[in-house]
Amino acid sequence: MDTARLTLETFYRGAEADLFRSNVDPWKAVLKRRVRKGYRHESLDDSIRRERTLSEATLLHEAKAAGARVPSVIGIEVETNTIVMTQIDGVVARDCLDAMSPNDSMELFRSLGAQIGLIHTAGIVHGDLTTSNVIVTASGTPFIVDFGMARRSNNPEDRGVDLHLLQRSISTSHRRDVPPLLKALARGYRETAGEKVFQSSWAKAREIARRGRYFAIR
Ligand SMILES: Nc1ncnc2c1ncn2[C@@H]1O[C@H](COP(=O)(O)OP(=O)(O)O)[C@@H](O)[C@H]1O
Ligand SMILES: [Mg+2]
Repeated sequence: MDTARLTLETFYRGAEADLFRSNVDPWKAVLKRRVRKGYRHESLDDSIRRERTLSEATLLHEAKAAGARVPSVIGIEVETNTIVMTQIDGVVARDCLDAMSPNDSMELFRSLGAQIGLIHTAGIVHGDLTTSNVIVTASGTPFIVDFGMARRSNNPEDRGVDLHLLQRSISTSHRRDVPPLLKALARGYRETAGEKVFQSSWAKAREIARRGRYFAIR
């Protein structure tokens, strides 16, 4: 894909990538471009960026094919380590959760759980599941973004880490009663993942949470 003639509007500069908005007819698009970071050896840096770009685009595509609500990959530009994807119109869950009604937030988490269940049963773990990587549309529908840390895994422990990270991000960044949200999340997850994957993933998530409390510095 050739992005040279696109007009790019920067909206996010992260540790690994810069993100831009643009029009890629007929889509409103987001470009995620991994830029060179000074602290890594140059040729090593080039291959890391290339590998992560290809991996992120591939897993994003696989998650979509599994039926999860994630951005669609429009294309990649290998020369600039850029993924071009559809733009999700909405607000990240981190910024809208506290203003939602209890009912809407429960429905959001049920739906989010169903999305995670689809991704996990496709043999993918997200790796960075926080409320910053969930975009909520105006109708309250969650989309999961940022497959930069995702990888293929069918290990319950890895799925448990995903669930635990999300749980921790709810309890640390939000002033809500967490248990009802987790219950809704679990209900949605069970619907798409099925009983076996549900049981193994949540058992691991609980075990990780217990270990965390045991080792926490008080
Ligand atoms: N397809 C998209 N549509 C709309 N916003 C997006 C999209 N992809 C990412 N974003 C926004 O950009 C932010 C950073 O993108 P992300 O992929 O999470 O980068 P990083 O790996 O640096 O965290 C996200 O938290 C989200 O707010
Ligand atoms: Mg992110």
